[in-house]
Amino acid sequence: MLNRQAMLQHLRTHAPVIAPSMLKCDFGDLHREVRALDAAGFPLLHLDVMDGHFVPNLSYGPMVIRSLRPLTETPFDAHLMISDPARYLDEFLDAGCECVTFHVETVSDPGELLERIRQRDAVAGLAVNPDTSLDAVRPWLDACDLLLMMSVHPGFGGQAFLPEVLPRVREIRELAPDGLIISMDGGISERTIADCAAVGSDVFVAGSAVFDQPDYAAARRSLSAQAASAQVSMEKSG
Ligand code: DX5
Ligand code: ZN
Repeated sequence: MLNRQAMLQHLRTHAPVIAPSMLKCDFGDLHREVRALDAAGFPLLHLDVMDGHFVPNLSYGPMVIRSLRPLTETPFDAHLMISDPARYLDEFLDAGCECVTFHVETVSDPGELLERIRQRDAVAGLAVNPDTSLDAVRPWLDACDLLLMMSVHPGFGGQAFLPEVLPRVREIRELAPDGLIISMDGGISERTIADCAAVGSDVFVAGSAVFDQPDYAAARRSLSAQAASAQVSMEKSG
């Protein structure tokens, strides 16, 4: 497992990072899915955790992630769409996640939780919904390693990309300290990824755009090429 510094370096080395969202995968055969994603060369797996409370859907928790861990060396980013991330944080770290991302909407003091993640030598991620003011995240840009900007309302795969998120990402990229990793999640596709890269995103979470394709490697190459052609990212600033 990569520690925080090694994981940050891994993400920089592989930019633009296309991260498959493990929500539209075949849950009946996760072993095969993980093998196929590895063979296709994805450098990060995005694990969508939903509690049926913060979002109106349920997915899986640390037990499932723990059982995935021995199947691959590819790093995990757990995207916690749960109301009480402080309570479960250690379980996700213990399950083998190199990065844990929780929502700013769910906690009164994001700084405390971000620090807990860093103290465990993991990458600290903060996620923000499309309709949450950027005022909520601005104070924490130095305290987090990765900012996950939602480009759909979280809860379901396959939703339409919200283009109004693009100026928000541009604003954050301008304000962000060098090296902050910006990730976008929701509706990322061949049609939208170049716009996301152009405003400064580094990591692109893709569910439908990977799992609805017969050839995962071809999907990764094509998304990655489109992102690379438009990218203005941490590479430029840091
Ligand atoms: C949405 C999840 C996303 C989603 C992405 O709540 O956080 O990761 O599964 O799926 P697509 O790419 O289909 O929008
Ligand atoms: Zn997600």
